[in-house]
Amino acid sequence: MPIGRRAFLAGLGAGATAQLWPACGALASPGAITLTAAPGTAQIAPRDMNPTGVWHYDGQTPGPVLRVPQGARVRALLRNALPDPTTIHWHGIRIANAMDGVPGMTQAPVEPGGEFLYDFVVPDAGTYWYHPHRQSWEQQARGLAGALIVEEPAPPPVDRDLPVLLQDWRLGPDGAFDEASLGSMHDFSHAGRLGNWTTVNGDGDATWPVRRNERLRLRLINAATARVYTLALKGLDGWVVAHDGMPVPPSPVPDRLTLAPAQRTDLIVDVSAAEGTEAVLAVIDRQGAYAAVLMPVDGLARPGPEPAPAPIARNPAPMPGALDGAAQVELKMEGGAMSGLASARMSGREMGIRELVEHGMAWAMNGVAGMPDAPLLTLERGRTARIRLVNYTGWPHAMHLHGHHFQVVHDGRPDGPLRDTLLIQPRETGEIAFVADNPGDWMLHCHMAEHMASGMMSWVRVA
Ligand code: C2O
Ligand code: CU
Repeated sequence: MPIGRRAFLAGLGAGATAQLWPACGALASPGAITLTAAPGTAQIAPRDMNPTGVWHYDGQTPGPVLRVPQGARVRALLRNALPDPTTIHWHGIRIANAMDGVPGMTQAPVEPGGEFLYDFVVPDAGTYWYHPHRQSWEQQARGLAGALIVEEPAPPPVDRDLPVLLQDWRLGPDGAFDEASLGSMHDFSHAGRLGNWTTVNGDGDATWPVRRNERLRLRLINAATARVYTLALKGLDGWVVAHDGMPVPPSPVPDRLTLAPAQRTDLIVDVSAAEGTEAVLAVIDRQGAYAAVLMPVDGLARPGPEPAPAPIARNPAPMPGALDGAAQVELKMEGGAMSGLASARMSGREMGIRELVEHGMAWAMNGVAGMPDAPLLTLERGRTARIRLVNYTGWPHAMHLHGHHFQVVHDGRPDGPLRDTLLIQPRETGEIAFVADNPGDWMLHCHMAEHMASGMMSWVRVA
C-alpha cells in the first residue's frame, strides 16, 4: 500500500505528504443526545507526532456523526465544558428560529458550565453539519464541528454511506495546535486563517479499503473556517447527487470539485480502479495533491458497475418561482486587504479604517462593519426575496443564509440547485432568490469565519 500511495501522489504531481482517512463514525439515535463541548486532545497530526490540543464534542473532532430520519424531532443537549461561551448552529437545517444557535440573536450564549437543549424538527433529508456560532474563527478552528445526516425514507442504494468532513488545521512542527496564529488581523483582512494540515473525519493519516465496483455515497462537508477546497477523484466514477443537502438530478462528477467553507456535495461513486491498485479522493491545489484518502482496492463487490442511480426525491423546501413582485435589495461587500475601504459605520457611528481595525473590523456590508441594527430586509411570511450580493473586494466569500435555501438568479430567473451557501468570486455578483417562509431573524453572512468576525454579517427578518 505505501507503494500505491507514492505512485498516486506522483501521478497527481503531489509534493507534500499523503493523508488518508478512515471510514467513520458513531451513529446517534434520534431522540435525546448529549453533546459536551470540551477541550481535549486528538491524534490529527501524523502518527509519529504528538496528539494535538483541540476542542471537541463528546471527546471527538469532528463530533459524532448524527444520523436522523427525515422529519424526525431531534433533541440535543449542549453541555459547555469549554472555557468560553458557545452555541450550536445546525447548518442548513430549515429550523425553528429559536433553535438556530446564533448568540445574541436567537439565544443567549451558553456560558461555561451551562447547557442548552436544542429541540427541533429536520424537514429536509440530506447532508448538513453543526458547529458553534460564537467566535467560530476560534472554536471551529480548534475542532468544533460535526456531520448531521438526515436520511431519506428511501435512500438510493449504496454499499456504504460515508460522511467526508474536511477540517483545515494550523499545526506547529511537533503537531501542536498553533495558538499564536489565532486572531491575526492579517488573516482576517485577507483569505482568512488558512491551515497547513487537512484532516478528513479527524484523521490526517489513514487508509480506507474498498472493493472494485463497490458503490459509495460520499457526503463531502467543508468544515474549514476559510479554505475553499478543490477535490479530484481517481478510480472512482459517478455522479453529483446533491448540494447543501438538496438533491439534484445525477450528473457526472466533474474533474474538479469546488467546495467552499460550509458547502456540502453528495456523490454516488463506483470504485472503478482495478483490484490491487488504489482509488483516490484527493485535495488538490495548483501544485497537485496535498492531501488524499487512498482507497486500496481489495476484492470485488460485484462483477460490473451498477446502473446510474435514480434521482433522490426532492425535499419540501420551497423553490422560488417567478420573481415578479419579489422584494429586492442589494448587499455591497467591501473591504479587506487592498480594497481601499475608507470608512464604515460601526456601533452607530462612522469610523475611519484605522479605528475600524482597532475594533477588529476589516470588512463592511452596505457600509456597516459587523451586525447592523436594522435588518437588510423585512419580509412578510411567504414573500419571495432576491438579494444581489455584489463583491467589490479582492477576495472570494462564501455567503450563507440561515433558515432558508435559495436559488441563484440567472437572466432574471431562479436557476439551478437549492443551496444555503454561495461562493462569490472577487469582483463578481451573485444574486439569490428564496421564499421567506420561515419566521424569525436570520443571519446572512460570509462563512469564512474570520471575515464574519471582522465585519461581514447582516440579517433578514421574516415576520
Ligand atoms: Cu454555518 Cu451562520 O453558519
Ligand atoms: Cu468572506
